[in-house]
Amino acid sequence: MDGGAAAVFAGRLHPNSAARHLLLRPSHGGVVKLLPRFFTGKSLYSQHHLQLQKQSHFAYFSTYHKNNVNSVPLSSPASNVAPVLADIDWDNIGFGLTPTDYMYIMKCSQGEKFSKGELQRFGNIELSPSAGVLNYGQGLFEGLKAYRKKDGKILLFRPEENALRLRMGAERMCMPSPTVEQFVEAVKLSVVANEKWIPPPGKGSLYIRPLLMGSGAVLGLAPAPEYTFLIFVSPVGNYFREGLAPINLIVETEMHRATPGGTGGVKTIGNYAAVLKAQSAAKAKGYSDVLYLDSVHKKYLEEVSSCNVFVVKGNLISTPAIQGTILPGITRKSILDVACSQGFQVEERLVTVDELLDADEVFCTGTAVVVSPVGSITYLNKRVSYGREGVGRVSQQLYTALTSLQMGIAEDKMGWIMEIN
Ligand SMILES: Cc1ncc(COP(=O)(O)O)c(C=O)c1O
Repeated sequence: MDGGAAAVFAGRLHPNSAARHLLLRPSHGGVVKLLPRFFTGKSLYSQHHLQLQKQSHFAYFSTYHKNNVNSVPLSSPASNVAPVLADIDWDNIGFGLTPTDYMYIMKCSQGEKFSKGELQRFGNIELSPSAGVLNYGQGLFEGLKAYRKKDGKILLFRPEENALRLRMGAERMCMPSPTVEQFVEAVKLSVVANEKWIPPPGKGSLYIRPLLMGSGAVLGLAPAPEYTFLIFVSPVGNYFREGLAPINLIVETEMHRATPGGTGGVKTIGNYAAVLKAQSAAKAKGYSDVLYLDSVHKKYLEEVSSCNVFVVKGNLISTPAIQGTILPGITRKSILDVACSQGFQVEERLVTVDELLDADEVFCTGTAVVVSPVGSITYLNKRVSYGREGVGRVSQQLYTALTSLQMGIAEDKMGWIMEIN
């Protein structure tokens, strides 16, 4: 879940079909040349080149493909031509990593600003064993999705929110970060370059994983001298293929995910390694995941390993307030607005474990699951079950409302959808 990042990428690897494709690189005058198959250089084209061309991302790739008979053609979304899709079993994509064709990379030195990035073939990256991210965990990640609509349009959901969250995290982790515009541009480029990996409508989405890391070498504890911003993508299936399925959570009373003044409120990589122990123990006992309590009073709800949590009582929907120990989820924020627009009363505040056990309904939110109904909670050996087999009316209603928006099925009255072609 991303909520569910771990689940998204915990699975199998598809064989990389990228090897079938040819490299491309811009040449003078806006014409894009096809390079011979044996070319092993990495850089495809730079953002600078793209800006010079003053073409839309899609037009850029279309030009390339029109001029090159040997290339795999990209679809023309607005035309009647059927989109060209990767040759995989779209009904069984699951949530494992499927390597795609291209990734985006941009670097800068400490004290400088990111300025120029480029697409490269998807593949392994080289790091010094002394890289800041490997030794001291100076790293952040993000997660968002692109959807393909029936009319061929490709949609992003609030990508600027991910950009802002990355910038907030970078400030906490002493890293330079791309501007919101740079982030969104890079996301668009990464999606368009890998367009054939976006699942057909209704079959899933293209999961987009931006990373920001201290890639320069350090030995003593200090911010790294160099930083890398990288985006890779992978198609993922719909989290719930046959209707919403409830999860069973256990409240963790010994270990904590975050502490006041720590880094729980940012998406830094160490927060995720830190929850593996409690999560693995919970899974071994048959639970889906762990729900954390605050580390001071041990009675207020925080969040699940990679999802935010909501409790429903009558017409009131409550979720723990953001106070530095909880990740400000973009799905959380969106669900609060959607619920409000549907006439629910919503509250961000301290929510006690007693209220949780007394709720009519409980659900989690995150990019992967969107809304995940909770079927049962176990706290100090006491198990409480919710609703009709755990899928409450409110969870179902909010899930349908938000996924319809994200997939372009419902009218976007909120202004949250970004079309990228
Ligand atoms: C710890 C944590 N909480 C909540 C979320 C949900 O955030 P979002 O809705 O932005 O995916 C995530 C996933 O990113 C997460 O890792």
